[in-house]
Amino acid sequence: MTKKIRKITLIAGARPNFMKIAPIIHAIHDAQSKGSDIAYRLVHTGQHYDKIMSGSFFEQLEIPEPHVNLEAGGGTQAEQTANIMLRFEKELLANPCDLVLVVGDVNSTMACSITAKKMNIRVAHVEAGIRSGDISMPEEINRMLTDAITDLFFTTSELANDNLRQSGIPDHRIHFVGNVMIDTLLKQRPNFKAPAVWKDLNLSKKNYMVLTLHRPANVDQMSQLKEMLDQIVESTENLPLVFPVHPRTAKMLEGLICDPRLHMIEPLSYLEFNYLVERAKAVITDSGGITEEASIMNVPCLTLRDNTERPETITLGTNILVGTNPENIKPYLDKLFAGHWKTGQDIPLWDGKTAPRIIDAILKSS
Ligand code: UD1
Repeated sequence: MTKKIRKITLIAGARPNFMKIAPIIHAIHDAQSKGSDIAYRLVHTGQHYDKIMSGSFFEQLEIPEPHVNLEAGGGTQAEQTANIMLRFEKELLANPCDLVLVVGDVNSTMACSITAKKMNIRVAHVEAGIRSGDISMPEEINRMLTDAITDLFFTTSELANDNLRQSGIPDHRIHFVGNVMIDTLLKQRPNFKAPAVWKDLNLSKKNYMVLTLHRPANVDQMSQLKEMLDQIVESTENLPLVFPVHPRTAKMLEGLICDPRLHMIEPLSYLEFNYLVERAKAVITDSGGITEEASIMNVPCLTLRDNTERPETITLGTNILVGTNPENIKPYLDKLFAGHWKTGQDIPLWDGKTAPRIIDAILKSS
């Protein structure tokens, strides 16, 4: 029999990790206050390092200061992954643990799970089993590799469970717990606050759209990016478009002159971004997490991707896959402006109580 899990190393690396790790830490604190001897160490890999991409999330989501920051941000995919692995190996040697818990699908997720497993440390993956089927995405490679060596799988949907079963994972290692991102969303919803742009542009409910783009397939080629932006501007009547620009996209957009209705601003903090989403007429995005948040808040969502690893946002939520062909955008926006959009339904176990289920399962596992 393996040792009971009591010392956990938690990994947070890039922006979409922070809202997933916050409720897990809070659930650990709850377990500790009820007398559990569970302990954790929080490792920030430094994949995202700017205040606007990282620091503000720690403050707003009440994530404690990380015990260590590996400062392994920047560089190519291989450089970043290698740097995280080199530094995390040293960290684990100095601070051994019973379990490394990773969330999501970013480079930090994969790099830390491989490092841990090679040191014979068990790995838990939160948001395991989801697949886009598109191996050209770095995130899909990260998902597949992480799940290939994970011990404890925490899943968001029955489809994720099926994907794992099909790859030979036995049922007793799959824990269908729901979506930690929604724990954070529901907890923080009363705290959402208007960003400066709300006043500056005189925005009002349902009278503007939110746009985010950062996937390499959409932003790494100027012609694709420009065509998408042109189509969006042309098909959104006279509504202001608020576009918090990811650093990757910003590099591409430098010097580009855009329509005055397209308001490019710096990335927003969690509470400010979701304030805008909650009140928007619609969100246009290529992110995965935003499709989940928009679905729960019942805001129409148009995804500029050809596939999704989160199909429940389409079958039950408010999301529609528009694709990456810029010509596809107008017909969907016409539908939105004609008032024909679906209403979001409940998604099983996306109820705000996922993190306590995860900690409960970890404490019971051996
Ligand atoms: C990463 C994740 C993606 C996630 C996205 C959210 C991977 C493979 N991708 O993509 O899944 O949706 O984060 O933001 O892990 N940069 C800054 N400041 C920062 C962070 C990054 O300027 O705080 C720059 C980097 O130096 C790099 C670019 O932005 O040039 C991209 O960052 P990187 O971490 O490589 O990947 P993302 O595109 O952000």
